[in-house]
Amino acid sequence: MNAATHEIAAVGAHLNEVYPMLPFTPVRGTGVYLENAAGRRVLDLYGGHAVAALGYGHRDLSEALARQSRDLVFQTNALPLSVRDEAAEALAAFGPPGLGRVFFVNSGAEANENALRLAFKVTGRSKAVAMEHGFHGRTAAAAAVTHGAQQSWYGFPRTPFDVAFVARNDAAALAAAVDSSTAAVIIEPVQGLAGAFDFAPEFMHAVRAACDRHGALLIVDEVQTGMGRLGAPFGAQLYGVRPDLLTVAKGLGGGFPCGAVLMPHGIAADLKAGALGTTFGGGPVACAAIKTVIDVIDRDHLIANVRDVSSAIRATCLVGPVESIQGLGFLLGLRTRSRAAAVRDALLARDILVGTSADPHMLRLLPPLILSTDHVKVLAAALEDLTHAPL
Ligand SMILES: Cc1ncc(COP(=O)(O)O)c(C=O)c1O
Repeated sequence: MNAATHEIAAVGAHLNEVYPMLPFTPVRGTGVYLENAAGRRVLDLYGGHAVAALGYGHRDLSEALARQSRDLVFQTNALPLSVRDEAAEALAAFGPPGLGRVFFVNSGAEANENALRLAFKVTGRSKAVAMEHGFHGRTAAAAAVTHGAQQSWYGFPRTPFDVAFVARNDAAALAAAVDSSTAAVIIEPVQGLAGAFDFAPEFMHAVRAACDRHGALLIVDEVQTGMGRLGAPFGAQLYGVRPDLLTVAKGLGGGFPCGAVLMPHGIAADLKAGALGTTFGGGPVACAAIKTVIDVIDRDHLIANVRDVSSAIRATCLVGPVESIQGLGFLLGLRTRSRAAAVRDALLARDILVGTSADPHMLRLLPPLILSTDHVKVLAAALEDLTHAPL
């Protein structure tokens, strides 16, 4: 155990205290390691909520950000930019076939907000269908389709449209919920915050079929699952399900804030000037980051790496407090006998950062896509070491 584990989770006096914070204050990062001012290094298997797709201090990303900042730090969508065209072209090629048009935004919530807006506009309908335990963001529409938000933190007096929530993998409930008034069904292929719950492939296909039957649009929320995290460019490709609209953020810019909605030419063609808009979305630095993240994922075969290293986690980390593993690729849920928060704290004391989830017995791993099997050995040994620890 490291002597510097006595750090306390201190928050500046001028910040809202809306986040429970862990007792580690990083000042820099290299690869999959974070480091504090005292030189303590922590293996980061949480990746900043799935954002640090390339890890920390990645040379290609740092250089692309520096170069673009020097050349042109910002311009709006009122002027064409070649870097924006290149990012859109790369993302459309990386994504599922048929989603050839890209609308850039700044976050996952904004991507879902716009995807829902499009679904209501295109269909002229009044209702959405979402999944129990799903999370889609904190803006008015994205939060309306987030399960449980209205009972806990929603805040607005009413939602902008009606939402029917369907129990996960319940095909009969799905069939009853989707009808001719449904504009969209929104689903995460693997639910992140819920604890890496992966939907049964048959259920994902039933969602597609229900949308087809009633003329509703399928919005696949890949804000957390996208950009190679599941061991395919997007979960939709892994499941073999065609989205009508796909949303992405988090790992998209490798840490630079950005998001996107991918759509078919048919939907994009009907949009008049002013139908969608944003000031910062599609900014040049974000686009340089997006292009670089996609280039590096392809060049360094990171999707194959995710598959291999994920298999190693499954093969070796069912030890100590872990009783089962769920999820796909690098979105994994480790079910723990004791409270997940206690296991997380014990791992952090051993210089390993993992996340928790909405399920109090599920740890969440969302590591950078560059994680190697050597790092997995470090995790497996630490979990083994916790076998008899009082948690
Ligand atoms: C599946 C999913 N959708 C949407 C969001 C919202 O993204 P953001 O926090 O960038 O608004 C998140 C964030 O955790 C998410 O996991």
